[in-house]
Amino acid sequence: MTVMRTVLVTGANRGIGHATAGALHHAGWRVVLAARDGRAAQAAAEALGPGVLGVELDVTCPRSVAAAHEHSGPVDALVSNAGVLLDAGHDPLTVPVDAVRATLEVNLLGAWRLCQQFVPGMVRQGWGRVALVSSGTGTFHNGLFTGAPGYSLSKTAVNGLTTMLAARTSGTGVLVNAVNPGPTRTRMMPTAPRTPEEAAAALVAALTLPDDGPTGVLLSRGRPIPW
Ligand SMILES: NC(=O)c1ccc[n+]([C@@H]2O[C@H](COP(=O)([O-])OP(=O)(O)OC[C@H]3O[C@@H](n4cnc5c(N)ncnc54)[C@H](OP(=O)(O)O)[C@@H]3O)[C@@H](O)[C@H]2O)c1
Repeated sequence: MTVMRTVLVTGANRGIGHATAGALHHAGWRVVLAARDGRAAQAAAEALGPGVLGVELDVTCPRSVAAAHEHSGPVDALVSNAGVLLDAGHDPLTVPVDAVRATLEVNLLGAWRLCQQFVPGMVRQGWGRVALVSSGTGTFHNGLFTGAPGYSLSKTAVNGLTTMLAARTSGTGVLVNAVNPGPTRTRMMPTAPRTPEEAAAALVAALTLPDDGPTGVLLSRGRPIPW
């Protein structure tokens, strides 16, 4: 018998999150489509079809994250996708620190808060998949991208969070990985080459890893790449 798994995707009203929610829905997952605007979540969920639950979830707001969990119930998998790029065109010597703080609030602390809310249930049930959306801008291997310093460092920090959560959940049946979707044509990057559907495939690959699959790695198109 095939088990129907439930996945929650944040920032799923548009862009990579929306394409990922759609791909998972078509692959037979029960999808909780989360967006910070409740009406946008509802509309996007209805557009994907029956069985998709739209929930309001602002990753910067602890009450919103807790309320979304009450609404969704436990989930088997999580795509931490919500993100902002607020400091493009700045450099590390001049970027307004407030822009860095606002970026970290969503990209790092939002992802962390989300995992604190949903991952313990996965550990308790002995199975889970977590994909944290990262970026090539945050990898030491590429050299951190200085043209959006707060954004880049927020993704370096997401990579660090991934390794910590993977270590903490090691042996529990929960696999936690970062995913680099690659430059993707969305509101954030309107002229990038990759389609949201291609990026979504990279995220689906992280959620469909076998039980002996990797944890605590950075994945690109389903394969580990250097941090
Ligand atoms: N596009 C690329 O080339 C690229 C490359 C590497 C990584 N990424 C990452 O991919 C992820 C998705 O980005 P995208 O390209 O699809 O950009 P996008 O189209 O701008 O989508 C960003 C999503 O995040 C949501 N969001 C922002 N702040 C939020 C908050 N406080 N709570 C909940 N949701 C929030 C947005 O909601 P609203 O619609 O309400 O604003 C939107 O749904 C991000 O983590 C981004 O850093 C993108």
